[in-house]
Amino acid sequence: MRFEPASGLSGELRAPADKSISHRAALLGAMAAEPVRIERYLHAADTTSTLDAVRALGALVEIHGEDLVIRGPGLREALQPEEPIDVGNAGTLLRLLPGWLAAQEGCSFTLDGDQSIRRRPVDRIIEPLRQMGAQLDAREGSFAPLQIDGARLHAVSYEVPVASAQVKSCVLLAALTADGATTVGEPARSRDHTERMLLRAGVSIHRNGLRVTVVNTDELLLDTIAIPGDPSSAAFAIAAGVLVPGSRLLLRDVGVNWTRAGFFRILRRMRGILLGDLEDDAGELEPREPVSDLDVAHGALEGTVVEPEEVPLAIDELPLVALLGCFADGDTVVRGAQELRVKESDRIVDVVEGLRGLGADIEATEDGFAVRGRGWLRGGTIDARGDHRLAMLGAVAGLASREGVEVLGMDAAAVSYPGFVADLEQLTKG
Ligand code: S3P
Repeated sequence: MRFEPASGLSGELRAPADKSISHRAALLGAMAAEPVRIERYLHAADTTSTLDAVRALGALVEIHGEDLVIRGPGLREALQPEEPIDVGNAGTLLRLLPGWLAAQEGCSFTLDGDQSIRRRPVDRIIEPLRQMGAQLDAREGSFAPLQIDGARLHAVSYEVPVASAQVKSCVLLAALTADGATTVGEPARSRDHTERMLLRAGVSIHRNGLRVTVVNTDELLLDTIAIPGDPSSAAFAIAAGVLVPGSRLLLRDVGVNWTRAGFFRILRRMRGILLGDLEDDAGELEPREPVSDLDVAHGALEGTVVEPEEVPLAIDELPLVALLGCFADGDTVVRGAQELRVKESDRIVDVVEGLRGLGADIEATEDGFAVRGRGWLRGGTIDARGDHRLAMLGAVAGLASREGVEVLGMDAAAVSYPGFVADLEQLTKG
C-alpha cells in the first residue's frame, strides 16, 4: 500500500481503545465474581484472541457494539479447555494469562500462537511462577507452546530482571490466589494498568517506589471498566501531525497515564507542539485511568537523548522517536532499549533497516539506535515484517516523506488498529 506525501493533516480523531487495558479488562472481567461491563473494548486481532481465550476457559462474553459484558468463571474456577489456547500474535495474553491459570488446581492448559509469538520468550514468566510453586514447561524452556499444570501457589518476593509490565502483571495475577502477600520489584517503572485495575477491584495492593505488594483475595469485584483511547495508537497520528507541514489535529480521549505518556514527554522535549493534560507522576497508586484531548500542530523539532529509565514508559513508541529524529535538528539517541529486540520483530534491526531504506541516516547500537537528523526523508519501500507498529511507522513516514512510501504487509496493523488506514485518509482529507 502506498502513502503519498501529504500537504497537511487536519480534523479530529478518536484513537482506538487501549490494547493493554483491553487485555487486562477481559482477563480481570473473567476472573471477577460478578458480571463486568467493559465500555469501548478494543475490537482488534490481539484483543479478540483474549476474548476467545476467556470463552474457552468458561466465560460468557456478550458483545454490544463497542461494549462487552463478561461473566467469567471467577478467580479459582477456570475450566480446562479441550483444545490448546491460541493467543495468536498477542504477547500480552501469552504473558498475563498464565498468572491466572497457574493456580487452577487439577487443570492443565496449553498456550500456543502464531510463528512470531513462538519466537518470543516466556522463560521470563516461568521463572517467577515456578518460585511460587507453579508447574510450567515450554519448548526449549523458553518458547510457546507453553504447558501449565495448575498447582497451589505461595507468595514470593520477586525482582523482575528487566522492566516489563507483562512479567510484573503475570506475578501480580498469580499473587491473587497465592498464600500470603507477594512483592514484585522492577528495575524501572513500567506501565501500571494492572495495579490500577486491581485496586479498583478491591484488592489490597500498595506501591512503594519500584515495589508493588499484593495480598491474596477471595474475589475480584468490578462493575464497569471504561477503556481510554490508546496512547500508543494515537502516537502515529500525533507523529504525522507534528511532521507534515500545515497540520493541526485534535485527538479525543487519549489515555495519559504517566506510565504510558513517555512518548508525549519526549515529543515535548523535542519541541513538538502537543497540548493536553498529561498525568503527573503520582506517588500513590490511582484506581482510575486519566484521559485527555491532545491538540497537535506541525513544528520544527530538536534531537534528544532517551535515557534507559524512560524506555519502558515509551517502549512501543520508540520506532516513532526514530522517525521524529530523522526530521529533527541534531542527533536523536535511544539508550537502554535492548527489549526492542524481543518485540513482534527485532525492532532495533527492523526500524534501522526500514528507515535507512527510506533515506534516513540511522545506526543500530547494542541497546537502541542513533539518528542524525536531516530535516527530511526521501521515501521508498518498507517491509512491515509482520509487525503492526512497523507497518504504521511506514505509513506515517510516507505522509511526511518527499517521494512517498510503499508499505509491504500493511494488513499487520489489524493486530492493534484495524481502522488505521481509514483514519489517516480522513485526516489527510481534513
Ligand atoms: C505491554 C507491555 C510491554 C509492551 C507491550 C504491552 C503490556 O511489553 O511492549 O506492547 O500490556 O503489559 P513488556 O512487558 O515486554 O515490556
